Amino acid sequence: MEAGTKTNPTIIAIFGGTGDLTWRKLIPALYNLYLDNWLNLKFSIICMGRQDMTNAAFVKRLKEGVDQFSRRGKSKAKEWELFSKMIEYKKGEFDNTSLYSYLKKQVAAFEKESDCDVNKIFYMAVPPQFFELIATKIGDAGLAADKEFARLVIEKPFGTDLQSARKLNASMLHIFDESQLYRIDHYLGKETVQNILAFRFANALFEPIWNRNYIDHIQITVAEKIGIETRGNYYEINGALRDMIQNHLLQLLCLIAMEPPVSFDADEVRNRKVDVLRALRKIKKEDVHNFAVRGQYAEGWVDGKKVNGYRQEADVSPESHTETFAAIKFFIDNWRWSNVPFYLRTGKRMNESISVITIQFKPAPHQTFPDEATENWQPNRMVLNLQPDMGIRIRFQAKKPGLQMQLNPVDMLFNYSDTYTSGTPEGYETLLLDVIEGDATLFMRADQVEAAWEILMPILSTWQANPSVNFPNYAAGSHGPETAEGLIAKDGNNWIVMPFEKKTHE
Ligand code: BG6
Repeated sequence: MEAGTKTNPTIIAIFGGTGDLTWRKLIPALYNLYLDNWLNLKFSIICMGRQDMTNAAFVKRLKEGVDQFSRRGKSKAKEWELFSKMIEYKKGEFDNTSLYSYLKKQVAAFEKESDCDVNKIFYMAVPPQFFELIATKIGDAGLAADKEFARLVIEKPFGTDLQSARKLNASMLHIFDESQLYRIDHYLGKETVQNILAFRFANALFEPIWNRNYIDHIQITVAEKIGIETRGNYYEINGALRDMIQNHLLQLLCLIAMEPPVSFDADEVRNRKVDVLRALRKIKKEDVHNFAVRGQYAEGWVDGKKVNGYRQEADVSPESHTETFAAIKFFIDNWRWSNVPFYLRTGKRMNESISVITIQFKPAPHQTFPDEATENWQPNRMVLNLQPDMGIRIRFQAKKPGLQMQLNPVDMLFNYSDTYTSGTPEGYETLLLDVIEGDATLFMRADQVEAAWEILMPILSTWQANPSVNFPNYAAGSHGPETAEGLIAKDGNNWIVMPFEKKTHE
């Protein structure tokens, strides 16, 4: 297809234009889509914010963001100049009707000039307290009326509990159709996360063993070395459960556990995912301590640097009970997964930054080899490395070279960086292109969001009602709290993190 014609003419209005997300993620992603010729030559980006700024000053700041955060590195003068012509900065208050009248005028002019179907994308890169206000104003201005081409993108957090998520869904659905709503979970845009679907459903090899007959348990770890940085205000009311588990980790679990969809149709894929959330066993309030543990980091050392404890971070209460670490054991009550534990954990200020899914298989049913041969023996294991290393590792037993029969675990490795030389698009590139193309497969539907809140409610309310007595309970730069080891150890398991680089055996 010719450059500049792969997608419809699009006008995208970003609320929160001067914010961090626009600067670090959205503009670099749009710029890369532009460089890859995905954007129609008729493309207009209106960034709205409350600051007084000239267009030139705004564009200059965006360029600094692109130079710093684009996967391609520094922008090239000519390309940036052409791209930046599409950008306009508009100062305005989100509650001011005149801002929306202005948008309406711009949209009408863009439609007239394009003379064909035009995408009208409204992106809420703003704190959640503005979601309802902005959506209502868009609706009042008549900008939501085009059910096919007007779309609203909503960043997380989508509610703070089941009740608030339901309320938010209801008010959005009063203005927009579900098909117009794109609730972002940026994990779903990650290359390695999308590859879970390819790995499971484009290969005949794995699906027959992807069940309780062969799999002992599954672990999902998303660990981060960073603390909460400057997000104290946000983090204090959210914590690890709301910030990471409700969305990213439960979505990963859905992709690993879902039934094969019949097609790649958005609703078919999302139906299969929501089936998983509905089959998750509800944890009773009185059992929460057996299934979930929480942690909060104390001061410690990360990469040789002394770092603050959570309670010493900016905008955090010195007595805060907010968790910066959470680990939960789930069961999925269906035929495929009956009694297979799924262990999820996530934490800030851990000893390493790694997102990884480990599928631990059961031992071979019969031990053929003598004890001397099996000293190093391990049941099979499959590791999906999501980041920072991207790849898949399958661990199996092999005969160690030598005159005797001795078994050793060895690895088969698929490594993105060895296999592909083309650059990997950022999650936001994938997701923004999907919004432009009207493909909602990788976005959260209302029922998914609510089902995820529903499953976490007993834990949230139990933790809220019973502030932890031992916070802080792990040092920054450590593996997390001892209790997380206990959660998995009582089932005879332990958290597995295998280094990704190739391992050679003696
Ligand atoms: C965000 C959370 O959704 O995901 C952050 O709010 C977290 O707290 C981030 O750091 C992690 O994303 P990534 O892409 O860096 O793994």
